[in-house]
Amino acid sequence: MKELVNKPKSLSIIERKWWHAATVYQIYPRSFCDSNGDGIGDIPGIIGRLDYLQSLGVTVLWLSPIYKSPMDDNGYDISDYQNIADEFGTLADFDKLVAEARQRGIGILLDLVVNHTSDEHPWFVESRGSRESRLRDFYIWRPPSADGGPPNDLTSSFGGSAWTLDPRTGEYYLHLFSRRQPDLNWKNPEVRSEIYRMMNWWLDRGIAGFRMDVIDLIGKEVDAGITADGPHLHDYLQEMNRETFGERDVLTVGEAWSATPDSALLYSGRDRRELSMVFQFEYVTQSWDETHGKWRPKPVDLVKLKAVLGKWQHALAEDGWNSLFWGNHDLPRAVSRYGDATGYHVESAKMLATVLHLMKGTPFIYQGEEIGMTNVSFTSLNQYKDIETLNMHRLHVEAGLSTEDFIRGANESGRDNARTPMQWSADPHGGFTTGSPWIEVNPNYATLNAASQVSDDRSIWAHYRELVSLRKQHPVIVYGRYQAWLDHHPDVFVYTRTLDDEELLVIANFTPRTITIELPDELHRRGRPLISNYSPVGEVGETLGLGPYEAFALLSSRLAP
Ligand code: GLC
Ligand code: CA
Repeated sequence: MKELVNKPKSLSIIERKWWHAATVYQIYPRSFCDSNGDGIGDIPGIIGRLDYLQSLGVTVLWLSPIYKSPMDDNGYDISDYQNIADEFGTLADFDKLVAEARQRGIGILLDLVVNHTSDEHPWFVESRGSRESRLRDFYIWRPPSADGGPPNDLTSSFGGSAWTLDPRTGEYYLHLFSRRQPDLNWKNPEVRSEIYRMMNWWLDRGIAGFRMDVIDLIGKEVDAGITADGPHLHDYLQEMNRETFGERDVLTVGEAWSATPDSALLYSGRDRRELSMVFQFEYVTQSWDETHGKWRPKPVDLVKLKAVLGKWQHALAEDGWNSLFWGNHDLPRAVSRYGDATGYHVESAKMLATVLHLMKGTPFIYQGEEIGMTNVSFTSLNQYKDIETLNMHRLHVEAGLSTEDFIRGANESGRDNARTPMQWSADPHGGFTTGSPWIEVNPNYATLNAASQVSDDRSIWAHYRELVSLRKQHPVIVYGRYQAWLDHHPDVFVYTRTLDDEELLVIANFTPRTITIELPDELHRRGRPLISNYSPVGEVGETLGLGPYEAFALLSSRLAP
């Protein structure tokens, strides 16, 4: 059934979808909640926290991979797509999770990792057996180049060549990630139909959709050196849509590091029949170092950040749809990266949430963000568990960098920042486990934990809950037209959202300083204070004083004098 939103004359009509007003919560199962004391989070642990998630108000959970896996990349290396890793539980646990979540109005998104499998997947085991193997063509094999080296100079995201020589058959296979994550050959129709069959099997189990891992890589043209955004990408996604979720009312979000506003319209445009939305990373990568990438990040430049986010808001205003996120399991903690995790922890965490959740798009909360969890400061290499961090350390040291330098970068940008266990309480190991956790808990759990925040109306958690609930109540937050103000101001983020006769004004100070700003006439107004991290603000005039990281939203009627 298709419902139409009544839009103001000036805007085109968009078809209303349930996920437009949803807020998604990402769970990294390994680090969320351990139910049996083995130090590893698991599905029963998630079930035990559904009440917590329901009271936060989120209606969708995206689970990072829970399938059978040797865990070379913590589950992003799958050896059986239709089974659950022993450490996470069983299929029965999973079905119970889906059912218990549904009772609370929550849907489950699975992580679809189909650019590659594990090297332990039976398909790869069979494929590597001989050049004549029935499944040889499920993966991407090439003979060595004339000098015996790799077929070309494609590199792996985790460092080094993307090709590994398999001595058994004397050919190289492609892996854009670790050598234990061989890339599937999407050109092979049998590969595609096996994947669609598997997707339907999960959809039939009642999931609410998929998050699609590095989906922009599946259309690759390896011999031409093209990996992201390849010539076949959109054909495959349209085929996938037709063969699997197209007629089902689900949410699909593709991870696409290469996405631009133009390509986002191809993925998520209304007549394209591909995905609901993509994750874009333009504002993430723009602050990376030209040579050392994220291992030597530059400070956040607010003017540039606003420019990129605003560009995406405009590009997808009439067609397509944005995802909104500050963090995920691959990125540093939001409050550490964009806010102030020490001096103004609470203020800046709330400010960031306000700015993000009141934009147009579907917001994603990464586990622990709702309590303002911060980056971790590891001091020795053996505290890191992430394969990317460990590989990159090796390469940096080979290139002449010191381990101390590398650790500085890793503590700012490494993936383990997001993977330290969820801080539930002040109990040992933050209440995450009664055993010893697979990765150390951030020592700040003693004061920074969920238990101390859920009962406090002024906590970061309460602020997130308020934002999630506002989105459910106010169509202007979901559908309002976005307009940015004070684009070149280095300290504040200001925008309006307009729908019919309602206008929402959002103002945020991105600095640890008390500041005074001048507002253009169009923004002077009286209204209803919707949310704030200081005292409620009901009126703004020509000059406005803002405390450190102060942020608020004011709802007003455009019909008022
Ligand atoms: C995605 C995942 C990341 C993983 C990689 C390979 O970027 O988010 O965690 O390592 O794909 O699957
Ligand atoms: Ca466990």
